Amino acid sequence: MKIVHAASELFPYIKTGGLADAVGALAIALADSGHEVSVFLPGYRAALEHRDAAEAVSKLRLKIELGDQFVSGEVRAFSPRKNLTIYLICREEYFDRRAPYGNGERDFEDNAERFIFFCKGVTETLRLLDIQADIVHAHDWQAALLPLLVRETERRHGVTLALKTVFTIHNIAYQGLFPGVKFGLTNLPDELYNIDGIEYYAQVSFLKGGILFADRVTTVSPRYAQEIQTPEFGCGMDGVVQTRVEDLSGLLNGVDNSIWNPSIDAHLPARYSAADLSGKGACRTELLKRVGFDVKFKGPVFGMVCRLTEQKGVDLLLENRDFFLNEDVRLIILGSGSKRLEDEVRALTAQAPQKITLTAKLDEAMSHLVEAGSDFFVMPSLFEPCGLNQMYSQVYGTLPIVSRVGGLADTVIDTDENPATGTGLMCAPTVAGLADGLARALRLFADRERYAAAQQRAMARDFSWTRASRGYEELYRDAL
Ligand code: ADP
Ligand code: GLC
Repeated sequence: MKIVHAASELFPYIKTGGLADAVGALAIALADSGHEVSVFLPGYRAALEHRDAAEAVSKLRLKIELGDQFVSGEVRAFSPRKNLTIYLICREEYFDRRAPYGNGERDFEDNAERFIFFCKGVTETLRLLDIQADIVHAHDWQAALLPLLVRETERRHGVTLALKTVFTIHNIAYQGLFPGVKFGLTNLPDELYNIDGIEYYAQVSFLKGGILFADRVTTVSPRYAQEIQTPEFGCGMDGVVQTRVEDLSGLLNGVDNSIWNPSIDAHLPARYSAADLSGKGACRTELLKRVGFDVKFKGPVFGMVCRLTEQKGVDLLLENRDFFLNEDVRLIILGSGSKRLEDEVRALTAQAPQKITLTAKLDEAMSHLVEAGSDFFVMPSLFEPCGLNQMYSQVYGTLPIVSRVGGLADTVIDTDENPATGTGLMCAPTVAGLADGLARALRLFADRERYAAAQQRAMARDFSWTRASRGYEELYRDAL
C-alpha cells in the first residue's frame, strides 16, 4: 500500500512527547513490512538541522492559499531508509523557531496559520507530485484538517489524492481551537462553519474536522476509545466522537525495540536482559550518581519521566509528598513543562535534596537512564490515551505504578490483583489511590522473590511495533 502520514512530531527529528515516538515507529514498521510510506512533517528548525536532513532535496515550491492571500513555501524530502520518505513542509516564518508550539507557557499567536499552511502544503504536494496515496493518515489536531482538505482539493481540481483517510487521536485534550475569524484561512466552503462542520461554540476546531471527516478514526488504546465517548474524558468532544463509533477503534501503541531495549541501549552505562540483570544494577548506581545521591542506597528508587502537565498526575504526586519525605526511598523526576508544577516540584526537592530530585529539561539520554536505573516508574496520570513510558519501564524491568485509566489500564497488570501474571501496580487516579499504590510498592520491594517474579513477567511482555502495526495494516485494508 502507499501510505502517507502527516504529523507534527516525528522521532528523531522533532519530539515533545509520545506522538513523535508513536508516528516514527509506526512509519518504520510499515516501511519494513514492504509498504511505500511517506511522512509529512512541518519543516521545523530541529528537523532541518538533523543530520539526515542534510541529504534533503528540494521537491517543490509551494504557493498556498491562506484566506485572501498566497503564502510561499518549499517542500524538501529525504529518505532515511528503504520504503520511507520524509517530506518537510518548509516556511521559515512559520517553522524556524526554537519550539514547535509556543514559548514556555504561551502558544504562538499564528498557530492556526502555521498548521493550516502545513495541511495545505501536504495536499498540494500530493496533488503536484501526483503521489496517489491509498491511505492518508493524519495524527492529532495539527494535521486534523487534512482529511477534509484532501476531499476539498479533490473536488476543486477533479483529481484523486487518496482512496481513504484515517485520523488518529493521540490526545483529545489538545484540540486546535481558534477564534472563528480564522476559518477564512481554510478557504473551505462557508457551510462547513457550522455545528455539523468544524465550528465549535463560535470557534474553529481542527480536531473536530479530523473526527468528523476522516473515513476511519482511531485512538491509541481500546480503553481510551471508550473513555472519549464520555463527558468525563471527552473534553467536550464526546458528543462528536459518539457520531463516529461505527468507524472508531482503539489500537495500542508499541515499543520500538531498536531504541527502547536494555540489551542494546547505547544511552546506558551497562546493558542487560531478563536472563542477566546485573547491568541493571550498574544503571541504578549511575543514575543515583548522576543526580548526586548516595550510590550505596539500598531502598527503592522511584523514577518519573514526563511532560510536567496536569494530565500526568503531578499534583497527585505532590499531594503524596509525605510518603517521599518520610519513607526510606528516592524519587528521581525528569520533566519540564508547566511553570507552576515545576516550581512546586522544585519546592518539594528543596525539602529533601538528598532524596528527591528534579531535572527540568528534555534529555533523551537521561530518560533512558531513569527507565533503566529505577525500581519503580511512577505514572499516576489523570487520563492517558496510551502512554509509552509504562511500556518502556516493563521492557526495562522497572515496575510501573499507574492509574487505572486509558492505555495504562490496557498495558499494566496489577500484581496484587493478579499474583500469577502481574507486572506492576495499578491505582485509582486519586490522592488516596496513589498513596495505596506507593504503599503496596514498598511491600512488593521488600518481598524480593515476588518483586523479581513480576520483573521477569514485565520483561517478557511483547509490546513490539511489529504487533502494533499489524492492527493498522488491517484497518487500512478494511477501509480500502
Ligand atoms: P505523552 O505523549 O503524553 O507525553 P507518552 O508516555 O506517550 O506521553 O510519551 C512520552 C515520551 O516523551 C516518552 O518517550 C518519554 O520518555 C518522553 N519524555 C517526556 N519528558 C521527557 C524529558 N523531560 N526528557 C526526555 N524525554 C521525555
Ligand atoms: C499522546 C498521549 C500519550 C500517547 C502518545 C502517543 O501524547 O498523551 O498517552 O502515548 O500521544 O500516542
